[in-house]
Amino acid sequence: MTSTHAFWLAGRQATGETTFDVTSPWDGRLVGKVGIPTEAQVEEAVAAAYAVREEFAASPAHVRAAALDHVAKRLTERTEEIAQLISAENGKPIKWARGEVGRAVSVFRFASEEARRFNGGEGLRLDTDAGGEGRIGLTRRFPRGVVLGIAPFNFPLNLCAHKVAPALAAGVPIILKPAPATPLSALVLGEILAETALPAGSWSVLTVENDRMPALVQDERLPVISFTGSEKVGYAIMDSVPRKHCTLELGGNGAAVVLADYTSDADLDWAASRVATFSNYQGGQSCISVQRVIADAAVYDRLAERVVKAVEAQVTGDPSDPATEVGPLVSEDAARRVESWVDEAVTVGATLLTGGERDGASYAPTVLADLPADTTLAREEVFGPVLSLIKVNGEDEAYAAVNDSKYGLQAGVFTHDVQAAFRAHRALEVGGVIIGDAPSYRADQMPYGGAKLSGVGREGVRSAMEDYTYERIMVFTGVQL
Ligand code: SIN
Repeated sequence: MTSTHAFWLAGRQATGETTFDVTSPWDGRLVGKVGIPTEAQVEEAVAAAYAVREEFAASPAHVRAAALDHVAKRLTERTEEIAQLISAENGKPIKWARGEVGRAVSVFRFASEEARRFNGGEGLRLDTDAGGEGRIGLTRRFPRGVVLGIAPFNFPLNLCAHKVAPALAAGVPIILKPAPATPLSALVLGEILAETALPAGSWSVLTVENDRMPALVQDERLPVISFTGSEKVGYAIMDSVPRKHCTLELGGNGAAVVLADYTSDADLDWAASRVATFSNYQGGQSCISVQRVIADAAVYDRLAERVVKAVEAQVTGDPSDPATEVGPLVSEDAARRVESWVDEAVTVGATLLTGGERDGASYAPTVLADLPADTTLAREEVFGPVLSLIKVNGEDEAYAAVNDSKYGLQAGVFTHDVQAAFRAHRALEVGGVIIGDAPSYRADQMPYGGAKLSGVGREGVRSAMEDYTYERIMVFTGVQL
């Protein structure tokens, strides 16, 4: 019999009265049963977070840093076990799951470093005008209040780490709500957090069902909401609480631009291999996976041939096999949606260069060309292993094609031309421009977030700490400077 995984209520384990099942998208097997918090338990967690907020904000940096160091160390020690769990609950190939745990280790390590240097205060002389003579200012940051962190299924551990670690580093209590499809690795994170000396109430991991979230979102004791997920849900949350501080990490339809100077065989092999890998990693279920490849006409044909070859070389199959690069999507419904978008595109004129087949929850790595602009696939985030090739003439047309989207998360530009890189940085309406690689590159300390409908605010450890806090100045009067 499968035992029930407890959730974490103000730092201690609790089981609730009912459970839900977590199953593997690959073979449907039961991976775990998870307890669901009762209303009274949710209330207890929120009340505890609210009650501890001042004590936690005033706690010494070394105490918070030590706790974060401990989490980094224990995640390292438990890497294989957690990677297996991520792979089982999410269907993520084990090689990517191991990489995800490694990234979460870095997130906690960065957070412990930032905890030590954050908020030392910045002095500001105010005697720059006569009225400010004898005055000096000191700015420090203070928590906006308890954070409600809502995490998605595609990085079950690391995107929880991006909510929790900066909060704890900044002395801000957090209630974390993992995705219902993939809560198990977040619950292991809870086990590790429970080994630290962080005060009770400073963190909870609540496996609340999605339909109960509106009440939590409305709770005035939780003035900060950090959400990662779909555009639809993200903006529905923000619209329902317009006076709260919301950080939204939403969708994207990542573009990789290949400029005309990227012309040698080695250049095009590199671009094709990066594009193939990062349109398909995790079944394309990343907000910065490559969905569009925008290539200059001068290199388009040579690139297209290589992209198709590299996509066909992706190893698909059982996520527990270390050789597998592309596993199933999170559910059969998700794969059916991708299938319907590709079918629609092909029906109205797109050319299918490879892929286009579904088997249960798995969808074959797919490349399209000639995608009509008014298709769902051209407009929306596919969140599946599908890319389309777009031919353009010159840089301006390439950047206009990137910007021809309601989204703007990250873009990649394959070029060796430094001036072109700066032009791209200026022209592209996105949160991050990656030169010489796919848009999918993310280092966990860098600011990460979108322009346009890709979201509001920035994650990345330091950025999230700033986002969870606000600046408050203290002015000293009658000071001899
Ligand atoms: C996301 O899907 O937004 C996260 C991507 C990443 O962390 O690599």
